[in-house]
Amino acid sequence: MNNPISERKKESYKIFNEIASTYDFLNHTLSFGIDIYWRNKILKHLPNKDSINALDLATGTGDVPLTLIKDARVKKITGIDLSKGMVDIGIQKVKKKGLDKKIFLMLGDGVQIPAADNTFDLTTISFGIRNFSDPQKSLYDIHRVLKDNGRLMIMEFAIPTNPLIRAVYFFYFRNFLPKIGNLISKHKDAYTYLNQSVEDFPYGEKFLGMMKNAGFTNLSAMPLTFGIAMLYIGDKKKSS
Ligand SMILES: C[S@@+](CC[C@H](N)C(=O)[O-])C[C@H]1O[C@@H](n2cnc3c(N)ncnc32)[C@H](O)[C@@H]1O
Repeated sequence: MNNPISERKKESYKIFNEIASTYDFLNHTLSFGIDIYWRNKILKHLPNKDSINALDLATGTGDVPLTLIKDARVKKITGIDLSKGMVDIGIQKVKKKGLDKKIFLMLGDGVQIPAADNTFDLTTISFGIRNFSDPQKSLYDIHRVLKDNGRLMIMEFAIPTNPLIRAVYFFYFRNFLPKIGNLISKHKDAYTYLNQSVEDFPYGEKFLGMMKNAGFTNLSAMPLTFGIAMLYIGDKKKSS
């Protein structure tokens, strides 16, 4: 690798521009469809509110907004991402489903969120934050744009704790997935980077610590499918 992971993260959106056209297909194929099941998990933990104004960071091709909208309490979703290639595909998907009065996808940085303080009831990020140039800064900014009693849900890859599962996981992630991903996306090393960015990212208690630093409370980390991924949840509590 010419660039260390931290350097590539700053411009990871460029990689996503280059693989946007094959992203959905590869996502669902290389994960054997588990990614759809994982995103649906978010619906089970929505904040206890009658009307939800949601923000999805690193929205990519819009799969999280298209999942959230299945719950009638979710009235409006704004999705932002730095990759125009990904967002353009997402906008087409939203239009095709006739949801363009409820889901709004646009360019924007998840580290410096283009929104006023206390705007959203819910912020989600799925498989995005490990690509951010400064995840801790993003967590502070999410806390800022959430309303009191608002909720943050983050889904991200992790490393399974069971040694046998971990060995299979590393084999798949380090060997099979980069080869097939790079081949089908016709990108020289996009899927090699994706794998390295997973192994490089803090998970479990370490990541909960970062959420705590940013001011989140009621923290939990839910392992998904043997701990291959985690769903992190935290709330913004009214400051007394
Ligand atoms: C693996 S994709 C995840 C897309 C989608 N959330 C999903 O679940 O399929 C990661 C996305 O993060 C975006 N991204 C990277 N850095 C970002 C940043 N600072 N702000 C917003 N989006 C960013 C990339 O452009 C890419 O679309």
